[in-house]
Amino acid sequence: MKKFGRREFLGTSILAAGSLAFGFPRSTSAANARVEILINEPIADISPNIYGHFVEHLGAVVYDGIWVGEGSKIANYNGIRKSLVDALKKIKAPLFRYPGGCFADSYNWRDGIGERSKRPKRTNFWYGAASKNVPMDSAARFEPNHFGTNEFMQFCRLVGGKPYMAANLRSLPAQDFNEWMEYCNSPAGSTTLAEAREKGSAGSRDPFGVEFWGIGNESWGCGGELTADEYAQEFRRYSAAYSAYGLPIKFVGAGASSDDPNWTRGFFANMRAKSEGMITRRVHGWGIHHYSWNVSGGRTNDWNAGKGDAVKFNTEEYYNLLTEADKIENFILQHWEIMGEYDKKHSTKIAVDEWGSWHRPGTELLPAHLLGQQNTMRDALVASLSLDIFNRQSDKVFMANIAQLVNCLHSLFLADGDKFCLTPTYHIFEMFTPHLGAKNVRSIFSVPNFKYDRNGKTADFWGLSGSASVIDKNLTLTVTNPHLTEKQTSEIIIRGAKIKLAKARVLSTNDVHNHNTFENPNAVQPREANVKFNNETLTFDFDAASVTAIYLELV
Ligand code: AHR
Repeated sequence: MKKFGRREFLGTSILAAGSLAFGFPRSTSAANARVEILINEPIADISPNIYGHFVEHLGAVVYDGIWVGEGSKIANYNGIRKSLVDALKKIKAPLFRYPGGCFADSYNWRDGIGERSKRPKRTNFWYGAASKNVPMDSAARFEPNHFGTNEFMQFCRLVGGKPYMAANLRSLPAQDFNEWMEYCNSPAGSTTLAEAREKGSAGSRDPFGVEFWGIGNESWGCGGELTADEYAQEFRRYSAAYSAYGLPIKFVGAGASSDDPNWTRGFFANMRAKSEGMITRRVHGWGIHHYSWNVSGGRTNDWNAGKGDAVKFNTEEYYNLLTEADKIENFILQHWEIMGEYDKKHSTKIAVDEWGSWHRPGTELLPAHLLGQQNTMRDALVASLSLDIFNRQSDKVFMANIAQLVNCLHSLFLADGDKFCLTPTYHIFEMFTPHLGAKNVRSIFSVPNFKYDRNGKTADFWGLSGSASVIDKNLTLTVTNPHLTEKQTSEIIIRGAKIKLAKARVLSTNDVHNHNTFENPNAVQPREANVKFNNETLTFDFDAASVTAIYLELV
């Protein structure tokens, strides 16, 4: 695949890596870095759905991350963990992908409807695939189906987020998919499935109005081990006929993993061969997945051996994880270019519908927390640089879903019974909230790269990176300084407006291994910082290994 250089990210931010000499006048200040925000060069609106989440019936994501049960002594809204809902409302969580993941292709949605006590118990897909010492009575092992479609929709409504359903392509016929759409979207009184929706536990007379439907998940792997041609054929069949019930239904295709160009090319070539409209009318989104897991610095590509511990990592592993996360920008550009060969107007946009850090097992809170892991300041930096990339590429990326919400991979929350805490990654989402729905504007980062030792060789990493957005007279600039030990004294210039007010929030800690626990829930949390400004210029010292959000009011 073609590699895009930093300078080719035109239409986004430009990282003038290596020097301050890209035609900009040299600064007279003591600053080592310069950031220019070009207010009059808008790129695209940042879809709020870029700040989306992922909920899979996996380990302790649903039970007891979300669902604690109606009779629980843990504070809840109709069985749904109250502290989780309240925290998600604060970050305006816009969208939830559900019910998987690999689980989705083993799931019969009919198991999760009707009266809760009568729903069947099934062996969970993940118990078979990833289990170790999961207790016999654990929901991670045997799925009780107490949380199904109605409960999920209730959760979305409580938070104020939209549902994005992943349909089972591997093991259920298209008819079941159509009927799930009917169950969710048909108006009261119109169908027997609308009646079933109303009568089941957590029933709803109002249709759920689900617009986003994923067709399968990772269909190149756990979702059926299909070839790209086979998947395109299935995608067409599943999307060929359905009742929209007046909604603008948006299908999302199961896209490639990271940098697999063949899957993207194969799918779009096959769809285009059928007709142009097959892409423009049917494929609203292309769901690519990218996990940051390999911290080996090129020593191995083995899925298990390449991973490191979530909490104990050395300097090289720290930078290697950030390097892995940073690759998503090139992958977006590469898939985008291939998609454009078959869809010149780019009617299909990208959904990065699974992303985040994936560490080796060992830091999960309990054996039932399958794929559970701790979340340190390093993961917060993975989140900030990823979200900044999605912001910068908001003309191409319309959705992204961090994997996964609670008690799992790159989680925003940890929960166990009545114990609950926010991870450093939650704070990133909270600090970035003003970007949701704002207009991404061009920003130019002129900052020297720095070097680190990677498997005995010298590797480069950028000095500062970020994104800027404007809504009304408010500008938000988010910036990551990845350097483990050096702050970046920076001059920030706003081109096209003057600064009326400025404030900042910083997430940093004296040790990047720091993380929040039930005993010490505020070990990593943001703090307010002063910003010095004058007309259109401000100066700021970006702490080592930090994420900063600068909020400006402009005139
Ligand atoms: O997020 C965990 C798993 O990772 C998902 O179920 C699957 O889609 C991916 O491989």
